[in-house]
Amino acid sequence: MLTLIIVSVIALISSSEGTKVMYGFSSRVGRGSLARTIYNRVLEDENHRHDNHSYWYFVKRSSLPADLCDSFLQLDQDSETSDFLENCYEKSDWVFMQIYHSIAKSLLSWFMENTSINGWLGRGSMFVFSRQQFMQLMDIDVDWKGENLLDLGAGDGEVTKMMAPYFHQTYATETSKPMVRRLTDKGYGVLDVDSWDDGSLTFDLVACLNLLDRCDKPLSILHSIKKVLKPGGRVIVAAVLPFKPYVEFGPSDNMPTEEIMVMGRTFEEQSTSFVKDVFEPAGFELVKFSRVPYLCEGDLESSFYVLHDALFVLKLSEYG
Ligand SMILES: C[S@@+](CC[C@H](N)C(=O)[O-])C[C@H]1O[C@@H](n2cnc3c(N)ncnc32)[C@H](O)[C@@H]1O
Ligand SMILES: *[C@@H]1O[C@H](CO)[C@@H](O)[C@H](O)[C@H]1NC(C)=O
Ligand SMILES: *[C@@H]1O[C@H](CO)[C@@H](O)[C@H](O)[C@H]1NC(C)=O
Repeated sequence: MLTLIIVSVIALISSSEGTKVMYGFSSRVGRGSLARTIYNRVLEDENHRHDNHSYWYFVKRSSLPADLCDSFLQLDQDSETSDFLENCYEKSDWVFMQIYHSIAKSLLSWFMENTSINGWLGRGSMFVFSRQQFMQLMDIDVDWKGENLLDLGAGDGEVTKMMAPYFHQTYATETSKPMVRRLTDKGYGVLDVDSWDDGSLTFDLVACLNLLDRCDKPLSILHSIKKVLKPGGRVIVAAVLPFKPYVEFGPSDNMPTEEIMVMGRTFEEQSTSFVKDVFEPAGFELVKFSRVPYLCEGDLESSFYVLHDALFVLKLSEYG
């Protein structure tokens, strides 16, 4: 961390480019509007504190076919989710920390990609579901213990943490180097992105959370999952809807090599299309379906950011 500060300061002093980036930063929050930015954020936080955000979990069931409707699990903002949000509000209050992050971020962005920057700064932790919600999704109780968990595209492992206590061994894959380090630090076995499906390990659960829209070959990943699933094993998929693929480290147009066709516009239509047009043809059968907010720690302007996740628990289809 100290090295990072020194590097930032040196870069700031020695480079005229630095002034430009800094200028970009100061024109956004500077010139007396810093106080207003923070004031607005505090007001917003106050509103969120009094909101149980039931719309984050709402699905219009009349727009779903019978199988999705029957397997729908209604979740809500439980105490672990509220704790995550409270932590976001508190972190945002460390104003100087935030300013430091903003400066370091603009400096690092010359030579690193966004995911890597956040990996370095230890920021941008995500929240998908709580331990309590995971148990509901998996239909297990607190004493249940499986053998192996694999979390594909695990990021910094904060989401992995919610599932890991229920398994003897936890494995993960990641393409981003800084994230690999943070996963290793957390004690997870990091498998090679190209050979995790070679059959040397099989898993009771494979998690594929917010990865299908961010990886180059989502269909290959779905097929590989089938190869490494133990009999009776489960797959848990989270997909941000509306579905908008974007591959950060991929081809220059950031579009994936393999295309997933998701039909429809609404959350309900796209969730249905995921099941009918993607999972079922790939040989999976729906076990549970739910909707949760995909929360990310924020910055000066907003304590947190939210996207909308469709959650699917799948098993191998008997016919597939
Ligand atoms: C949006 S993040 C999701 C992180 C975490 N699973 C979550 O739900 O918050 C997607 C992650 O997948 C990683 N990734 C992209 N393509 C991958 C691949 N083919 N194999 C493994 N990880 C990949 C990216 O580096 C990124 O950290
Ligand atoms: C959330 O709050 C609304 C009123 O603002 C209430 O109708 C609803 O039942 C609450 N939901 C939960 C899950 O507590
Ligand atoms: C990185 O984040 C900045 C804003 O924080 C954004 O403008 C830029 O497009 C992002 N770059 C990539 C490659 O995602």
